[in-house]
Amino acid sequence: MSTYRVQPGTVQETLLIPLYGRAVESRKPEPAPRDPRAEEIVAAIDYDFARLDGLQSLLGSVLRTSLFDHWVRAFLTEHPTGTVVEIGAGLNTRYERVDNGRATWFELDLPDVAELRRVFLDDTPNRRMPAASVTEESWTREVAGAGGPYFFSAEAVLPFLDEAAVRGVVDMLAERFPGSLPALDTSSPWIVGNQDTHDALSKVAARMRWGCADAAELREWRPGTEVLASHTLVTLPSALTAALSSSYREMLGRSGRAAPSPGRGLPDESPAAGVTREHGPGDHLTLMKIVVIYWTS
Ligand SMILES: C[S@@+](CC[C@H](N)C(=O)[O-])C[C@H]1O[C@@H](n2cnc3c(N)ncnc32)[C@H](O)[C@@H]1O
Repeated sequence: MSTYRVQPGTVQETLLIPLYGRAVESRKPEPAPRDPRAEEIVAAIDYDFARLDGLQSLLGSVLRTSLFDHWVRAFLTEHPTGTVVEIGAGLNTRYERVDNGRATWFELDLPDVAELRRVFLDDTPNRRMPAASVTEESWTREVAGAGGPYFFSAEAVLPFLDEAAVRGVVDMLAERFPGSLPALDTSSPWIVGNQDTHDALSKVAARMRWGCADAAELREWRPGTEVLASHTLVTLPSALTAALSSSYREMLGRSGRAAPSPGRGLPDESPAAGVTREHGPGDHLTLMKIVVIYWTS
């Protein structure tokens, strides 16, 4: 594979953080998850990844992607021929980690990132990579052809939009794909206001714009919205925490803050126990909420 250059200061740069997190993780003796494709892609990209070494956000992105993997697996167990839509897919290799060979996948990203994705990853009969902004309606027509049921996975993307655009995306998904399961992460207003001191965001040009103090707010956005599951990285589902290496379990125990979870609709959503601690600067594990929502009407 030839070396591909990613320009610093572009939107592409943000996707290198979770990609590198998975590649570093994959080389550990007990990785969560193992991701040899991420290792290969990192090796083929000409970028100074060493500037990301040791960032706590790399661990955070690994835990976050493990939770999305966990939910997509649960969805495909219940709906083996269902449709998974990655929104802002970046160079995430969830398809390689989780696909069951029967599901349909759409991996959406902005045109320049879709082009980069195609350098490393191919369309298959059950995998397509639409190039569009999530805020445009065009991509929904292609996705609607798959028929569903649908799981939308918007990992580390919506906080980069402003709140009006996020509301527009939520409305569009609810109207075009009623009954679907969208999973997304929110970032606290504290992170959004302190990006210049954030360990990873301070190293890239892209900026988050949507700060969300309480993911339960999503219920107020549309009548009939249920928050089926809500976790921080230290209150992950207990089955997921149990499968992590002892070093992760120790780290989560030290930073833990047990929070109640609605816990309905998805299996094993009870949060892992932890000790209470206030949010504060540098605390990258508790300031992000990851939720799955559902529309009852
Ligand atoms: C931090 S990266 C996360 C990538 C991937 N979800 C992951 O977890 O590895 C953010 C991604 O969102 C994409 N993105 C940003 N704005 C977008 C938009 N309006 N529509 C679609 N994708 C967008 C970026 O191009 C980038 O790939």
